Amino acid sequence: MRKAKGLGAKANPGNASEFDSLVSSVEKSRGLLGPYEISDHLSARIEGLGLLDSLAHFEAHGYCVINDVYAHRDLDELTGVINTFATKDKGVIADGNAPYLLGRDPLVDKMVTHPKILAFAEVSVGNAFRVGQVAGSIKHKGGFVPDGVHSDQNWLPAPFPEHNCVITFCIPCEGMTDEEGATRIVPGSHLMRRHPNREERFSQTRPIEVEKGGVAVWDGSVWHCSGARKASGVRTMLHATYQRFYTQPIDDYSYLLENHDYMKKAPKEMGLLLGERAFFGTGSEDKMVDVQKFEEAMVRTRL
Ligand SMILES: [Fe+2]
Repeated sequence: MRKAKGLGAKANPGNASEFDSLVSSVEKSRGLLGPYEISDHLSARIEGLGLLDSLAHFEAHGYCVINDVYAHRDLDELTGVINTFATKDKGVIADGNAPYLLGRDPLVDKMVTHPKILAFAEVSVGNAFRVGQVAGSIKHKGGFVPDGVHSDQNWLPAPFPEHNCVITFCIPCEGMTDEEGATRIVPGSHLMRRHPNREERFSQTRPIEVEKGGVAVWDGSVWHCSGARKASGVRTMLHATYQRFYTQPIDDYSYLLENHDYMKKAPKEMGLLLGERAFFGTGSEDKMVDVQKFEEAMVRTRL
């Protein structure tokens, strides 16, 4: 790749003055911004949004609760939106899923671009982060209970990078208590920067209890699982993940997978090289991500 003279000299961003502040922010940290460090351009915003205490808890324990993020009327409306888009698919999240929600209802788009969420995500997964997955879930009493804890960046080989790669925000429409099926966490497990082993999958967990209007957020390394709902009624929740920019293929050759003549004649290894077995992009309005491909990635990415 060619190197421009001066950092960002050949960049052509939409907003030049905003981009200039990013360039000076990189220069201030000499390009060495550490994990959990707040970049210069973001510092005043984080303070103004009152996120410093939440970020400190997040760094120490691998998760936190951000209180008073959303208006109750928006959360009431969100319950209806998730129910509208819920499918009968039994997917990876819970016993009722509303997959692939971005761009289908303005309220969802508004919630996943809330200034507090985006600023918090930027500290954790970097300025160039992208949205990963946006889905709703509906948990009933005695519904789906997962088989032990996991890390959300479960397709990353261990040891995980010190810079977090995946951050998950969960927005429970009515809040969530232990009884109501709150997500459960192994506090501090992110510090090990690896997947839980067979025994550790059944580590002691504690619930992340959230009041209505608040958000639970956790690091991609921290071990956690869904919690069983013991109370009657349902827990309706919006899940939104964001991912660090790297690593993606530079050239997008995925169109070749659709060219059956080409694929028939191509070397047999080409399918894997082109992402034929990748779970990325397999979610749709009708179904959650392809579980078989996801499970296959859990094996291949550890080798
Ligand atoms: Fe998870």
